[in-house]
Amino acid sequence: MALGLAVETSCDETAVALFDTKKGLVKDLVASQVSLHAPFGGVVPELSAREHVKNLTPLLEELFRDTPYGFEDLDFVAVTVTPGLLLSLVVGVAAAKAVAHYLNLPLVPVHHLEGHVYSVFLNRPVEHPFLALVVSGGHTELYLVEEFGRYRLLGSTLDDAVGEAFDKVARLLGGSYPGGPFVDSLARKGRPTVNFPLPKVKGEFNFSFSGLKTAVLHFLRKNPDYPKEDVAASFQKTVAEILISKTVRAVERFGVKRLAVVGGVAANSELRRRFSELQREGVEVLLPEPRYAGDNAAMIGLVGAMRYERGKFAPLDLNAWPNYPLEKFGREWT
Ligand code: KG4
Ligand code: ZN
Repeated sequence: MALGLAVETSCDETAVALFDTKKGLVKDLVASQVSLHAPFGGVVPELSAREHVKNLTPLLEELFRDTPYGFEDLDFVAVTVTPGLLLSLVVGVAAAKAVAHYLNLPLVPVHHLEGHVYSVFLNRPVEHPFLALVVSGGHTELYLVEEFGRYRLLGSTLDDAVGEAFDKVARLLGGSYPGGPFVDSLARKGRPTVNFPLPKVKGEFNFSFSGLKTAVLHFLRKNPDYPKEDVAASFQKTVAEILISKTVRAVERFGVKRLAVVGGVAANSELRRRFSELQREGVEVLLPEPRYAGDNAAMIGLVGAMRYERGKFAPLDLNAWPNYPLEKFGREWT
């Protein structure tokens, strides 16, 4: 067995985890910055980085508390190096490098989306191949994961990410940031009575959400007294239909009947319900536990462990990158 420390600071959550290559996740912690950014209606990059600087060391101390382990028991350090807010990523990368350098441990780089993609395997053995639909605040992408490190991008959003659409529609409905959980709970009290049009999108597996957001805006302008719960439920139903139609097409095209739906938006109750229905059609649908749908370091620990076992380490002059396509990262770091 080998014990890894995982660090994730790509956006507005400071997260750390201890991950054992044999026994799996030992412990993980997330310090959320939601209340800090809420008054600004979105993540403020500089504030986020400063908050990581403030939170990371106490979080690391707390991580080892009530575990039989200390820093001296670590075998490797895994860290999110891309994609994300550069200033925020740099804080985590610098901390991980300091620990790795001081303890003379291998440093293992992880792509944030790889973390999300494998988050469904935190409580079960990893099985390839599978399709992975990544739905988060910054990404809406469909991948065919042939094996570890072999990621084939099938399609992505041509405009807004789905989480972004949730955040914008929440604002239109009078909610605060982050909008996903607000729309989700509002929709639970409503019925999908409005038929929003499905977008026509170039590319078989590409997505688009900005037209839907505009349709909601126009509808609310024309019908200011319409029950907001019903608008939320209708928006959510349309999002589910867009995502499911493209994904089902990929299942059929590639004959891969295992599907992971991951990322912050995978916490959405309607999406979880609708995707779970695909099981009846013989598709094995894997969803992360809601607490591991959003950003966390447990998923970074899991991917770090897989890369560590393959002996793929980074030199100590490793840097952070705001963007790095997952396909390319997989090829170069596996
Ligand atoms: O993966 P994540 O935590 O961070 C990124 O890497 O982007 O995703 C955050 C996104 C936000 O847009 C948030 O509104 C959305 O996930 N989200 C949800 C729900 N919970 C979080 N969207 C819909 N329904 C939810 N229950
Ligand atoms: Zn994320």
